[in-house]
Amino acid sequence: MKEKLIIFDTTLRDGEQSPGASMNKDEKVRIARALERLKVDVIEAGFPAASQGDFEAVQAVAQAVKGSAICGLARALNKDIERAGEALKPAQRARIHTFIATSPIHMERKLRMSPDQVVEHAVAAVKLARRFTDDVEFSPEDAGRSEEDFLCRILEAVIDAGATTVNIPDTVGYSLPHEFGGMIARLRSRIPNSDKAIFSVHCHNDLGLAVANSLSAVLNGARQIECTINGLGERAGNAALEEVVMAIKTRQDAFPCDTSIETREIVPCSKLVASITGFPVQPNKAIVGANAFAHESGIHQDGVLKSRETYEIMRAEDVGWSANRMVLGKHSGRNAFRTRMKELGIEFDSEEALNDAFARFKQLADKKHEIFDEDLQALISEQIFEAESEWVKLISLHVCADTGEIPRSEVVIKVDSEEKRGHSEGSGVVDATLKAIESLVQTGADLLLYSVNNITSGTDAQGEVTVRLEKAGRIVQGQGADTDIVIASAKAYVNAVNKLLSSNRRQHPQAGNV
Ligand code: KIV
Ligand code: ZN
Repeated sequence: MKEKLIIFDTTLRDGEQSPGASMNKDEKVRIARALERLKVDVIEAGFPAASQGDFEAVQAVAQAVKGSAICGLARALNKDIERAGEALKPAQRARIHTFIATSPIHMERKLRMSPDQVVEHAVAAVKLARRFTDDVEFSPEDAGRSEEDFLCRILEAVIDAGATTVNIPDTVGYSLPHEFGGMIARLRSRIPNSDKAIFSVHCHNDLGLAVANSLSAVLNGARQIECTINGLGERAGNAALEEVVMAIKTRQDAFPCDTSIETREIVPCSKLVASITGFPVQPNKAIVGANAFAHESGIHQDGVLKSRETYEIMRAEDVGWSANRMVLGKHSGRNAFRTRMKELGIEFDSEEALNDAFARFKQLADKKHEIFDEDLQALISEQIFEAESEWVKLISLHVCADTGEIPRSEVVIKVDSEEKRGHSEGSGVVDATLKAIESLVQTGADLLLYSVNNITSGTDAQGEVTVRLEKAGRIVQGQGADTDIVIASAKAYVNAVNKLLSSNRRQHPQAGNV
């Protein structure tokens, strides 16, 4: 019997710290339900002290998901821990994850605290967290650059204070696999009460080593890995859940432990996260990239046809690639629609919302006769975007793109219930449309990114457009989907403008004091 490796997913917390990847409450609940179907052990749902919106999102996830433990992040501060405890009240199994930085550079320059003060804060934080739940995790932030003697001291103290998991973060992604694994082994052997807590790791990918470092830690006794779907996360991201899980599963000969992940849910979950965050997956990305199981060269194709194992070490269907089923069509009824949505974890809070979604589905089915799960997910995102678009709404769009003529676009939008009409020329109809909208809303924002992805295959597929805008250091991302990519682009721009104008500013957990 193999030992259990706990999979702790932080897509909704560290993943959300990728610039522009912020998600609203409904989006977080949809992703959390997908993570529950994936059978992750712990879902870090957010940082409740960041803002009222973050608090409510953690609370909503704790309410909606019962199959995984739900975790809230808290700095080693009473107010953060109390806020996390409050947000996690509806959870069947709640975990509080508290942290404080322990590297000399962070203690001196960021916290301006002495090592003794840091230990005192950590112990007090763990004790307070234990009043809310028996499941408490502690992280010494920037452990990868902390002094090992000090790590031993603080970890022993927090385990004594009641921490049940101690998580070793390589916050800046600086460690090499042999060093990181060695550190885990030494900490486990040097800390006298190390057997009273599970050792966890949280590796960032700045040098592309997050997965390698995490696996090296597992070989040295770590029994929890913190990771994210598609490797999303601060800067270059975190260890990718799909890579960690499939490495452990495929190389059971090398690992003394195994996960409980339902691997066929990996690809659907990856697609959902990419679509909601607007961070597309690169085609050659391991496991979840479109080319991960595609064979281009004739020799490879010939080999795979004769015997799959010649070039494939995993089966595409085992990670969910065959899940691209046609689920509904033009003649599907309301009940079939509602049932499939429920299977995807989407429930409607009113008959009105169901009717609206069903009407959108019928419109889409008129344009595109095969409707896939990804289309249904995009349809719901669309409904959420429109509900969010309180200030600016797209009413209509007319474009002109004759050969040899300058492309033109005319748009009608509603701004605060006042209808406005604008037009512009551009290098193409998308450029002209975005310029026409900007001429009406005048955000003055810089366009950092514009990208289009097809949600499914075929020329009748919906195009999913992502637009990233920046103004005065604030980055927002908008999405829009339509079978017509000019309309999808206009929807994405309007969505980004609405986000830019909303006042939801939040605190970053790793910035500032403590
Ligand atoms: O990277 C990091 O150190 C973190 C901590 C909050 C665990 O995300
Ligand atoms: Zn992190």
